[in-house]
Amino acid sequence: MNFNNLDQLYRSVIMDHYKNPRNKGKLDNGTMTVDMNNPTCGDRIHLTFEVKDGLIEDAKFDGEGCSISMASASMMTEAVKGQSLKTAMQMSQEFSKMMLGEDYNITEEMGDVEALQGVSQFPARIKCATLAWKALEKGTVEKEGKEES
Ligand code: FES
Repeated sequence: MNFNNLDQLYRSVIMDHYKNPRNKGKLDNGTMTVDMNNPTCGDRIHLTFEVKDGLIEDAKFDGEGCSISMASASMMTEAVKGQSLKTAMQMSQEFSKMMLGEDYNITEEMGDVEALQGVSQFPARIKCATLAWKALEKGTVEKEGKEES
């Protein structure tokens, strides 16, 4: 497969997640909720996760945003569902590295996430792609802070 074909494939994966988002909506009994916006455009994301004993048993997202931000949220929820919060944070770090153009390790469990790799070439869109992951990080830090106090 040459690079153009790969690019086309990645584009269609992104559009599929945008048009058929996985895990869209809200959980009634979420134990971790997060709101975050992208300051550059005002688009928002809302996460509700059900976390039990450090394990993400269910994950949903809601919000309004561009195709990249919504596709990324769909991919993120799919990737972290069933994982520990610790693993989810590691996934988030690998995603950030990919966006920064650094060496990264996207594991098989992370599903379609690598389809966003091309966004690293467009600095203005990186915040779109990282919005859901930053929200996950914020929620995790807040949750851990609450449990420690
Ligand atoms: Fe707002 Fe992408 S333009 S999140």
